[in-house]
Amino acid sequence: MPKILVTGGCGYIGSHTLVDLIDNGYEVVSVDDNSRSSTDVLQHIESITGKSVHNYAVNLCNFEQTQQIFQDHLDLEGIIHFAAYKTVPESVDQPLLYYRNNMNSLFNLLELTEKYKVKNFIFSSSCSVYGEVSELPVTEKTRLTRTKSPYGNTKKVGEEVIEDFSQISQSKFIALRYFNPIGAHPSAKMGETPFLPPQNLMPILTEVASGKREKIMVFGDDYDTRDGSCIRDYIHIMDIAHAHTLALKYLFENPDTQAYDVLNIGSGEGVTVLEMLDAFEKATGQKLNYELAPRRAGDVAAIYANNDKIKDKIGWSPQYSLEDMMRSAWAWEKR
Ligand code: WQD
Repeated sequence: MPKILVTGGCGYIGSHTLVDLIDNGYEVVSVDDNSRSSTDVLQHIESITGKSVHNYAVNLCNFEQTQQIFQDHLDLEGIIHFAAYKTVPESVDQPLLYYRNNMNSLFNLLELTEKYKVKNFIFSSSCSVYGEVSELPVTEKTRLTRTKSPYGNTKKVGEEVIEDFSQISQSKFIALRYFNPIGAHPSAKMGETPFLPPQNLMPILTEVASGKREKIMVFGDDYDTRDGSCIRDYIHIMDIAHAHTLALKYLFENPDTQAYDVLNIGSGEGVTVLEMLDAFEKATGQKLNYELAPRRAGDVAAIYANNDKIKDKIGWSPQYSLEDMMRSAWAWEKR
């Protein structure tokens, strides 16, 4: 089976995607400088799949060291590029750190993809590229507005760089726009391990449930939504992971497909923050202390996906429910 290079393989989505690729028979290599992740995850992957994954502890902004990976694996047939900084508030405080890291790493990878003729490239993008949307649910044709953070803009510009590059390249590219990935591997042997104190809703919920954190602040209950709290599209991490395997499979089976395409990965359902708290309590039996707090800068009121295109194009559809997401996140936290 084809050999795939996964960048950011020690990260949350990268590690779960490595498991799905291995489960589907692919040979995998990881590159992750572990600046925001830990190699512990490689043991988790081995305990789940029985396979040990080699990780190159290389920063993709270092062209020579990254090139060596391609030199070592002249039989690479695909790349899935996750490696990037992704903490929204940090990107607001340190925009150049984000533009330098997230863009230079992409430029190096694209140059090496061409030099070593790696035919298939999947780019980890984000629903953040939509910015503040007026029409819901968002489709891939929804007009992108100014992103709310430099992080989101590195994904939006990244997509544009890839689209331009794809016009002169022999390779094929798909950008996957994730909505809100949550949950953990069903075995509870692997899950989200925030390297910095978590900013995202789900890891904060599980910290409150486990007593690590006293309560959760609900950022705003005065939005124009059904209960005043923000609406998001939450999707199980294993559904996100499998979308990558199916996107690669599509490119392998359709070598003459268009040079570049973009796909939403979302459940298609919008859920409010308060509904998430309720769903967590129902799924786990854990009471959550929460307090209503002012809005958080940069939040959009509501965004959720229309996922028809990914269903039609690569035959993907979400297999896990919101309850599965909550239960798996809680089982991982308890570990
Ligand atoms: C979800 C909702 C908060 C914490 C982020 C990134 C996005 C993508 C996914 C990378 C919001 C509310 C949260 C808390 C709260 N990441 N919330 N109290 O902001 O939708 O998206 O993660 O691609 O780029 O921006 O996710 O989990 O931070 O917030 O009320 O303590 O939960 O206001 O409405 P978000 P989130």
